[in-house]
Amino acid sequence: MEKPVYYAPTDYGDYAFSVAAAAVKFGAGVLVELGGDAKSLGLKRVALFMDPKVRNTKPAMVAEKSLKEAGVDYEIYDEIKIEPTDGSFMAAAKFAAEGNFDGFISLGGGSTMDTAKAANLYSTHPADFLAYVNLPYGEFRPAPGPLKPHIACPTTSGTGSETTSTAVMDIVELKVKTAISQKLMKPTLALVDPTTAETMPAGVVAATGFDVLTHAIESYTARPYTTRARPATPDQRPVFQGANPYSDTSSLHAISLGGKYLVRAVKDPDDVEARHMLMLAATTAGLSFGNAGVHLPHAMSYGVAGLCHTLVADGYEDDNPMVPHGIACILNAPAAFRFCAPACPERHLEAASALGADTRNADPEHGGKLLTDKLIEMMRETGLPNGTGALGFTEADIPELTKRGFNQPRLLILAPREVTEQDVADMYRDGLKYW
Ligand SMILES: [Fe+2]
Repeated sequence: MEKPVYYAPTDYGDYAFSVAAAAVKFGAGVLVELGGDAKSLGLKRVALFMDPKVRNTKPAMVAEKSLKEAGVDYEIYDEIKIEPTDGSFMAAAKFAAEGNFDGFISLGGGSTMDTAKAANLYSTHPADFLAYVNLPYGEFRPAPGPLKPHIACPTTSGTGSETTSTAVMDIVELKVKTAISQKLMKPTLALVDPTTAETMPAGVVAATGFDVLTHAIESYTARPYTTRARPATPDQRPVFQGANPYSDTSSLHAISLGGKYLVRAVKDPDDVEARHMLMLAATTAGLSFGNAGVHLPHAMSYGVAGLCHTLVADGYEDDNPMVPHGIACILNAPAAFRFCAPACPERHLEAASALGADTRNADPEHGGKLLTDKLIEMMRETGLPNGTGALGFTEADIPELTKRGFNQPRLLILAPREVTEQDVADMYRDGLKYW
């Protein structure tokens, strides 16, 4: 049977996709080049945003030594909040505004990189916090001009934030998690040294690794850009434009890397190859979702993370109780992909195949089941909770979860089929228990 054309032109939809390319340098040990890279960008005095857990570790020492040797002056900011807030972003922006810096370096996980992005934005182009925040909570005002150079150096194999133009945070007063997505906020260079992730606890590898997988599978199964409304002016084409031929390549590559290496990386801390390849998967998935966007599992994660403040997940014992982002996403993913599969079954089948499921002789209509069965198998192998029920959620929580998950229009719009509030409730119900 001939495969359907996913990008068939439509009368109403967009006729173009754009590639916001990210500059990436990847390699074991490449962090020693940080100082040289900063110098090449003309930086003389940088704000060095550092995860406090990273501060006394080898990557921090390597980064500082490299900057010193290159003659780049720096000041460290390590008041990074894991799961940042409007307040923590603005505190970082104040530090940035007062420090007379000509650039930014971030060394840490997604929270650290996102905090540096926000500090760069608000210190370079000061505004009220909500000015740049995504709709519907903020005004989604575009930054009025370029930001300062930012070199992002991830130390976890998860968010892919080093290649995206998004910073995620909670708005405390509104009790919502949302984001700032600004084209100009993409780091100038992603400097990715997979040796920095070698010491991650297994639980963190699992949580961040499943974040990677959801990024890649959601990007691959997102609605095609040709069915998203055509922008009135070129600059209104959104950062997250829907699945497109560019993001497809990196999505499938990231899914196959995750399928091959995630379970290995979690189970064996000495499996250096698996941990390095998972870092490559994270960056690769960042390239895909940074152009395509994510949809239902991420939208629904906001409800789970926003309502559960009692979980102490493996590997996160030193943090305040919370549901790590990747876990909040993957716990909804099987339910969400079951819902989405009928809209583009062949894409779900291809994703299942890339993930390592046996898809020989399978028809596209089996794609959703093959994909979700494989994901559930990987969740079980890595010791993840059995659905949101294992975190304490019950039927009684469905209305509040639904309210929060449904209130993410920028993500819901990218699902491959229309989503009603009832659909979201049904998916949360489906996600309470998987085995
Ligand atoms: Fe994510």
